[in-house]
Amino acid sequence: QKDVEALPRAPVVTVMGHVDHGKTSLLDHIRRAKVAAGEAGGITQHIGAYHVETERGVVTFLDTPGHEAFTAMRARGAKATDIVILVVAADDGVMPQTKEAIHHAKAAGVPLVVAINKMDKPGAQPDRVKQELIAEGVVPEEYGGDSPFVPVSAKTGMGIDDLLENLLLQAEVLELTAPVEAPAKGLIIEARLDKGRGPVATMLVQSGTLKRGDVVLAGATFGKIRAMLDENGKPINEAGPSIPVEILGLSDVPAAGDDAIALADERKAREIALFRQGKFRDVKLAKQQA
Ligand code: GTP
Ligand code: NA
Ligand code: MG
Repeated sequence: QKDVEALPRAPVVTVMGHVDHGKTSLLDHIRRAKVAAGEAGGITQHIGAYHVETERGVVTFLDTPGHEAFTAMRARGAKATDIVILVVAADDGVMPQTKEAIHHAKAAGVPLVVAINKMDKPGAQPDRVKQELIAEGVVPEEYGGDSPFVPVSAKTGMGIDDLLENLLLQAEVLELTAPVEAPAKGLIIEARLDKGRGPVATMLVQSGTLKRGDVVLAGATFGKIRAMLDENGKPINEAGPSIPVEILGLSDVPAAGDDAIALADERKAREIALFRQGKFRDVKLAKQQA
């Protein structure tokens, strides 16, 4: 395969933090959406993937659940990302899943931007939050550390422009690039079986361009993409690096966290998928994969 020029790409930003500290509300404010209000029990139970056009370019956000039951999703979110926004409620401070999020970000080697949220609340204690974070090894830039600390309110919108500004600055330092004119490679963020549409998977394209009609191998499943939808359910024909898309046409439901790649050869995609299912027929291929 010939070398393809890498071009600048949008940052992928994962929003993490303790349950109910305001992750979804913050993203709702940034996206002018109302996801949080519609969630069962007010609890996020999946990874939401959104891309937002700002004045200074596109940012892709992954929203993660803060509930303690969803550790694996948080770990996945941290691995798929360039930057983590750590949301800490100013009236609640550092809590168990705050610490867990710090751990995931460090394990993934990803820079943190801290959003001290709920600043509108009378009980807000940003200085206490700061001290608690320093105790966890997250040091603000003002004290010579690596992490911008931005006070915000998802309720009033205070500080959110500043948060975006800090994110974009961090992203610039990272000089993120990816090939565009190449077969797509990415990650399955989420997948489910839809009654009417069959297997539906959200794929984050990490490099190359995914096109409708491509054959995709995703974990132990494969298929020709018969439809692609953006996060608002709008049909699209292609998606480049850092863009999350819903894909339809896979033979089965892949696992969240599976690698996904577009392959020119449908037969090969099928063989590899069958092999991964433990149903390989081609001995030569089985040996190659072993
Ligand atoms: P999980 O995804 O379940 O972990 O929660 P979350 O972190 O996404 O929090 P969510 O956005 O669901 O907000 C939790 C509650 O806090 C909701 O009732 C929000 O309205 C409220 N909330 C979020 N941000 C703010 C804020 O800045 N100020 C105030 N006063 N309330 C907020
Ligand atoms: Na919540
Ligand atoms: Mg949420």
